Amino acid sequence: MAFKERVFSGVQPTGNLHLGNYLGAITKFVALQERYDCIYCVVDLHAITVWQDPSELPRATREVTAAFLACGIDPKKQIIFNQSQVAEHAELAWVFNCVSRMGWLNRMTQFKEKAGKDRENASVGLYVYPNLMAADILVYRATHVPVGEDQKQHLELSRDIAQKFNNDFGASIKAHGYGEAFFPQPEPLIQGPATRVMSLRDGSKKMSKSEPSDYSRINLTDDADTIAQKIRKAKTDPEPLPGEEKDLQPRPEADNLVGIYAALKGSSKADVLREFGGGQFSTFKTALVDLSVAKLGPIGSEMKKLVQDPVYIDSVLADGSQRAQALAAETMKAVKDIVGFVRR
Ligand code: TYM
Repeated sequence: MAFKERVFSGVQPTGNLHLGNYLGAITKFVALQERYDCIYCVVDLHAITVWQDPSELPRATREVTAAFLACGIDPKKQIIFNQSQVAEHAELAWVFNCVSRMGWLNRMTQFKEKAGKDRENASVGLYVYPNLMAADILVYRATHVPVGEDQKQHLELSRDIAQKFNNDFGASIKAHGYGEAFFPQPEPLIQGPATRVMSLRDGSKKMSKSEPSDYSRINLTDDADTIAQKIRKAKTDPEPLPGEEKDLQPRPEADNLVGIYAALKGSSKADVLREFGGGQFSTFKTALVDLSVAKLGPIGSEMKKLVQDPVYIDSVLADGSQRAQALAAETMKAVKDIVGFVRR
């Protein structure tokens, strides 16, 4: 069966949005709206899989929404909403808890990383997190999912869940007139020179919201001076930049900065090395500061302006939630019939 093409993705409201979120995900969200119907979600249900201060969560939710808007996602043409306003996400996640296998979840590297050594003390929600992620995507029967490299394994699990649901309930899906498959196989969109932006302090670690040192990342709300300072302090190595992309491979910090420059510029690493190869890092860093400030400065100021108006932000989320729920409710009706639940 051909499924209607639709994009879904989500971002957690768990602290500062950074350059990794921007280059790995949000810039893609913006570009995709030219070609697809898109649904972009602030995933607050995911956020509470680890403790969130209830007096802080609303601010963080509004800030991610502000970032979507400031980066240029059109809330009238596309859907922007927060997950907890559409109960169908949690409802479908329960069904998926019963489709997904313990063995599958036990392989999830993100759970292992986040739970760390104290696994007994991790929330059950953190463990079944990928099932909820599958529900987020499939409750809209979305076909394309732009994410950074770190979400690849979760996306593969979503595909496995879709396939197992289609197999397990195959006869019922057919009997209810949905053909061979009810859920599509959502395709991850992980492309470009910055699908895994690394820490500015350590090229072997991912840039992340939870890293204690603020110098490890560039936040979308950092001002020009802070951006400049962080890039100047970014770890490098003593060699000049290479002329060829393959020579970046053993040099993670150089590779990371070249990837960031390429992604901000909308070009490739090879192009960047054609321009800067053979030169010193100091020259390249000056160019990177200028480019970063030019691209991120206006976004940061627009975000700061938008968060001053929570009434407007909340109206965007309310409107988006209503439109999202209309779509999700259709899917849940069908899922209930397929699974065999009696409904009104
Ligand atoms: P989250 O909130 O951790 O990150 C949001 C998006 O940013 C990408 N990202 C990065 N990309 C490149 N380099 C980095 N250093 C970097 N850090 C983060 C992430 O890959 C992601 O695309 N589980 C998801 C949220 C989610 C979701 C979904 C995504 C919930 N349901 C359904 C897609 C579809 C997460 O925690 O993203």
